[in-house]
Amino acid sequence: MYNSKIAGLGHYLPEKVITNDDLSQLMDTNDEWIVERTGINERRHIKKGSGDGTATMGVKASEMALKNAGIEASDIDLIVFATLSPDYYFPGSGVLVQELMGIGTCPAIDIRNQCSGFIYGVSVADQFIKTGMYKNVLVIGSENVSGGLDMSTRGRTVSVIFGDGAGAVVMTRETDLSKGILSTHLHSEGKHAAELSMIGPNTNHWIPELIDKNDPEDLSYYPYMNGQLVFKNAVTRFSEVINEGLNKNKWQASDIDMLVPHQANLRISQFIQRRFGLEDHQVYNNIMKYGNTTAASIPIALSEAVQEKAIKEGDKVVLAAFGSGFTWGSAIIQW
Ligand code: UT7
Repeated sequence: MYNSKIAGLGHYLPEKVITNDDLSQLMDTNDEWIVERTGINERRHIKKGSGDGTATMGVKASEMALKNAGIEASDIDLIVFATLSPDYYFPGSGVLVQELMGIGTCPAIDIRNQCSGFIYGVSVADQFIKTGMYKNVLVIGSENVSGGLDMSTRGRTVSVIFGDGAGAVVMTRETDLSKGILSTHLHSEGKHAAELSMIGPNTNHWIPELIDKNDPEDLSYYPYMNGQLVFKNAVTRFSEVINEGLNKNKWQASDIDMLVPHQANLRISQFIQRRFGLEDHQVYNNIMKYGNTTAASIPIALSEAVQEKAIKEGDKVVLAAFGSGFTWGSAIIQW
């Protein structure tokens, strides 16, 4: 019998910083609106020609995670790759990472659960490790969303929020069953699928060149978000799924040393913080400098939190996410 645990973490952000003022040159928005509604000051966008992409950023984050875990790429038994912005329509980016890192013929699984993708990935890795099938699993969240955003005023509700980046963790066996990933909790509700979505390209809309950027009806190749509905569902589902994890492990909210929420919107994190009665130092937020990096946001935040020693051995840690699908989940970790 094993538990799984996080043995090493890494993250990578592209160099190019896009401030709120930069965005206001492209669309009708301003620093005050963005900061007040989202808490975001700046985000990173991949620079064309830099070589950064979903898989290559995932590799950079993974190299840091492997180094911190003290293992070699050849020790990896499974790659789990979470993204909503894969390099190819198919295959997924997991196999690209495998080839770039030269990891033999190990299996690679891609997870399409957007902002909840990393927690789904941790849960998948946890199951494989618990059954003994695999020992070392590389879980990556990486996003290159900037190239697909509508940077005109029409797309401002979405495009001011999102940013690019990657995070990765190495998960491995833990023989002490009171430590490591204690439980994961996953949910989805497909009735809201279209409310936070990018409809094309799909089997009815194959050719992106057909998009008419001047046609206000032809929005299928840009992300769409019903912001207020997403916000309302997010605060409810975050709370539910955190409580589900606490109850399962007989933890109280006051037991939490660190909550690392998906960096959706600082106002959502603050709402959850108040609801669970947590202090500022018990909730890790870095959305101010990176925006919402969907599947990459939790592993980037977790990696920075560990690097800054905001999470230490013995801490009780909760991860929670909500996003497109809708999908949501939590992971309860005895660090
Ligand atoms: O990671 C996945 C999960 N995603 C989320 O959790 C995001 C959840 N939703 C949100 O964070 C918020 O709904 C947003 C930040 C996206 C939007 O904030 P909001 O307070 O819900 O604004 P709104 O959409 O109700 O828009 C309010 C006003 C509108 O103007 P009028 O109709 O009142 O004149 C918008 O047109 O703000 C306007 N607006 C903007 N103004 C300046 C919308 N986007 C912008 C913008 N800059 N970027």
